[in-house]
Amino acid sequence: GQRGGTVIPISADKAQPQREAPSTLDQCRRCELWQNATQAVGGIGPLEARIMLVGEQPGDQEDLAGLPFVGPAGQLLDRAMAKAELDRRTIYLTNAVKHFKWEPRGKRRVHKTPAQREIDACSYWLGSELEQVRPEVVVALGSTALKAVTGNPHATLKEVLGKPFMHEGRWVVVVYHPSYILRVPGENMKAQAFGVMVDGFRRARELAL
Ligand code: URA
Repeated sequence: GQRGGTVIPISADKAQPQREAPSTLDQCRRCELWQNATQAVGGIGPLEARIMLVGEQPGDQEDLAGLPFVGPAGQLLDRAMAKAELDRRTIYLTNAVKHFKWEPRGKRRVHKTPAQREIDACSYWLGSELEQVRPEVVVALGSTALKAVTGNPHATLKEVLGKPFMHEGRWVVVVYHPSYILRVPGENMKAQAFGVMVDGFRRARELAL
């Protein structure tokens, strides 16, 4: 796998067949997003990972590559991880929603925030990854990830940013989404948001020990 990671083949739970259950992530029809996406993008990283990073959904480049966090958001993540001395190869990286949701703007495909029903539909796959990896710490990148990880559609970043909490027997650390940090105006605000991410990654590393 790329960067030493292993792609986990996520498969449906055979013990509990469901109506129209997809047998693999790539065949998922639990919501409509597959229709406009190139492919589903599952998580990547070692099954032994103690930390799982959860993003929102694949972006344009991830949709084409079939791998999470290979575009600009992934590069920002790499810088923050380097600063926090977190080794990307030891971490499991995934997204709350596995298909790219977008709308055309000229020649570009512009990201659209997933709807709650799409987060809910895709929680099946995130749940499967959490069961297989069983991380000590989950780092939620932004609001969509926070909602997906807690199962609370009303959860907001503000209350939990920089305040790790326990959920279902594991730590949840919440930081800004990397794409937010990339577009936040002003160097001071950008540096502040990046600092929250680096601090969060350091906390995650400590909590996973
Ligand atoms: N943003 C995300 O949330 N996830 C990706 O994989 C890429 C960009």
